[in-house]
Amino acid sequence: AYNERESLYIVQAFARDLFHKNLLQTDEGKSIGLSYFKERGFNQATIEKFDLGYAMDSWDTLHKTATKAGHSEDILLKGGLILQKEGDPSRKYDRFRGRVVFTIHNLAGKPIAFGARILTNDKKQPKYINSPETAVYHKSDVLYGMYQAKQAIRSKDNCYLVEGYTDVVSMHLSGIENVVASSGTSLTENQIKLIKRFTDNVTVLYDGDAAGIKASLRGIDMLLEGGLNVKAVVFPDGDDPDSYSRKVGSEAFQTYLNEHARDFIEFKIELYEEEAKHDPIKRVDTVRQVVQSVSKIPDPITRAVYVKESAKLLQMEEEIVLAELNKILLKGQ
Ligand code: UTP
Ligand code: MN
Ligand code: MN
Ligand code: MN
Ligand code: MN
Repeated sequence: AYNERESLYIVQAFARDLFHKNLLQTDEGKSIGLSYFKERGFNQATIEKFDLGYAMDSWDTLHKTATKAGHSEDILLKGGLILQKEGDPSRKYDRFRGRVVFTIHNLAGKPIAFGARILTNDKKQPKYINSPETAVYHKSDVLYGMYQAKQAIRSKDNCYLVEGYTDVVSMHLSGIENVVASSGTSLTENQIKLIKRFTDNVTVLYDGDAAGIKASLRGIDMLLEGGLNVKAVVFPDGDDPDSYSRKVGSEAFQTYLNEHARDFIEFKIELYEEEAKHDPIKRVDTVRQVVQSVSKIPDPITRAVYVKESAKLLQMEEEIVLAELNKILLKGQ
């Protein structure tokens, strides 16, 4: 007999295969799911590489197919593939229905979870429905796309960090494979450790909206604290890597990344600069914001280099930056 973890891997692989077959071999999947992906520019190779799929617009396709194939209801529930009706637990229904499916893999390439996107603009429903935590899926330990990215991250010695599933897929289409997604939640220590297994350099590419910028700022400080070298790119208002790369094309997208990747200090200064131009109080704010981030860097030599750099960029005496830094460091003890 299999233990629970093994059974979970098996049932998630079964679901991956079913979603994939739904997408490519059923009329509903082809006319709804496949055409959706094609419209977004995803090709056959991407669909295979990322194990993309489609969940039928039905309450029980997966439940029925999986139980017929010998998977127990218990393991389908534990895998988060089916749910039981509140108040009537004997009634079960599929979690993912009428949505395109992104498969989430572990480092070995085994499917461990899914994220499923709605196909309409119905704002009353969540855009994505994701698998819950299971014995083989701890969301805070996983970065979407790491299985497909890890070799490229090593060879490029850099990791692009994006927000969404579609950003990862789109960037592969643009020829950039060293990319992973935080999947819309704030970065965790384990995710940072995971990146560090492959590189010390991260470039944050969050969405060009208020939420994305806020998340970038938080992410940058966490990455610095983890001892990583951090750059960031800001996209024009409202764009994310997926929408922007489709707008301008792969080549211009790559150029944009190379030309707009800013060291975290410049990124912060640029963010505050506009407001700070005519407002000395805001300038003080900028200095504090930058020094705050520098204080997160664990290595004293790297920190010293950044004190010099930020003093230069902020047009401040190094002594003043250093004094502010020491104040923050002392407070933290
Ligand atoms: P976004 O709202 O930026 O979506 O959320 P997106 O990835 O750009 O998707 P498209 O282009 O509209 O299709 C970023 C990420 O946050 C998570 C998903 O991982 C998503 O890719 N998210 C977002 C959820 O888990 N649930 C949601 O309802 C929304
Ligand atoms: Mn296939
Ligand atoms: Mn967003
Ligand atoms: Mn987005
Ligand atoms: Mn998007």
